Amino acid sequence: MTSSTEQQDVVELLLQQHQQIKDMFARLERAGGAERERLFHYLVRFLAVHESAEEMVVHPAARDSDERVVQQRLGEENEAKHALAKLYDMGVDHPQFATRLSMVGASVIQHAEREEAEEFPLLLRDNSPEKLQRMAAMVRAAEATAPTRPHPGAGESAMANILAGPPLAVFDRIRDAIRDAIRDGGSAST
Ligand SMILES: [Fe+2]
Ligand SMILES: [Fe+2]
Repeated sequence: MTSSTEQQDVVELLLQQHQQIKDMFARLERAGGAERERLFHYLVRFLAVHESAEEMVVHPAARDSDERVVQQRLGEENEAKHALAKLYDMGVDHPQFATRLSMVGASVIQHAEREEAEEFPLLLRDNSPEKLQRMAAMVRAAEATAPTRPHPGAGESAMANILAGPPLAVFDRIRDAIRDAIRDGGSAST
């Protein structure tokens, strides 16, 4: 990392998350059995938090710069969500799982690369460094609201509930939790 967490802007943070997503797909493609199942659920949760945070914090800012770019990214995120749901229905032990997974991985990574090529430059061009840092703080707050694995202690069963079940439900519940947190915590607007 080239800067402290407080100074990190939202683009630096999202680039790190994109790298984590690529690493997760690569690990998942090599994994088998129970490890594959565990990694797949972790990936679904991580993507649900990442895409929800982009939808609520990042895309609204980029929309002011280029509405068309944001609409295309939202369409790709919706496709990815449904592709993950099909993989879940198929099950990690299905003979076609690995083939389908690598196709989904390729399109999720292509989506991330389009954000990096088309959307992030708009954010950097049209927003102050202070606003980009505030947006990073909001994305981190979104992650804290909807952790990718249940934490021990208070609220464990409620969080386990949010993280359980098929991808469409996980995406919806994480999105709702993040939306509520953002509404209660204010917005990134100047
Ligand atoms: Fe995205
Ligand atoms: Fe992204």
